[in-house]
Amino acid sequence: MLDQFKNTADFLKGKITFEPEVGIILGSGLGGLGNKIENQVAIPYSEIPNFPVSTVEGHSGQLIFGQLGGKNVVAMQGRFHYYEGYGMKEVTFPVRVMKFLGVKYLIVSNAAGGLNPKYKVGDLMLITDHINYFPENPLRGKNFKEFGVRFPDMSQTYNPDLIKLAEEVANENGIAYQKGVYIGSTGPTLETKAEYRLFRIFGADATGMSTVPEVIVAHHQGMKCFGMSVITNVSEPENPEEETTHDEVQNVAGTVEPKMTAIITGLINRI
Ligand code: HPA
Repeated sequence: MLDQFKNTADFLKGKITFEPEVGIILGSGLGGLGNKIENQVAIPYSEIPNFPVSTVEGHSGQLIFGQLGGKNVVAMQGRFHYYEGYGMKEVTFPVRVMKFLGVKYLIVSNAAGGLNPKYKVGDLMLITDHINYFPENPLRGKNFKEFGVRFPDMSQTYNPDLIKLAEEVANENGIAYQKGVYIGSTGPTLETKAEYRLFRIFGADATGMSTVPEVIVAHHQGMKCFGMSVITNVSEPENPEEETTHDEVQNVAGTVEPKMTAIITGLINRI
């Protein structure tokens, strides 16, 4: 396993002339930030040894190396989801590879359903914490101490300094935001009304099908993590009419994407 991470990282190092300091994962409908990366070297997942291939519509599936906010970055335009059938090791494989590329910070975005009744469609949420509601943990199995400890503390998984910097950037640019807890579960079904109620009771503010596995692995290996959700739909458990489609999720995410890009670019600039 370790060899696979290293081999993939070595392959990628052969394509670039710098070490990326910041890793970025772009969520559903949020791939546009990838186009803002300067001096791009884009490598399709299908050309990267050991990489799984993304299958979902709206996820173009490439790694983009270059500069953003004055720093060297590597962005995943398209991620691997558990609901596609990948195991946790596959979902988080690129994040392990990033470690061998020298990445110190991981910035993750996603589209999510709003649970907090104050949230509106199109809101941005800075993730302060998460709930792992997947039936698995990506760290299950042999622990590689090259990465981190067997029983990682998770009390400050989303780095408070990065959240503070992102808030400064948002405030200076007049971008409104929420702060809240993200709950991740497998999908591909959206939640039933009873599940939305349950997740609210759990204390989650937004729900989605990603992020948690990648952030667990990144935090385990000592990366500082920052996450952001675009609220593409809101749960209305008492409204029998309300339905959500994937198209809607993608459209809303695309509309809010420029604000997210501004915050992430500003944040990277201040790291
Ligand atoms: N639930 C789960 N995942 C999602 C949702 C949702 O309501 N919206 C966007 N991704």
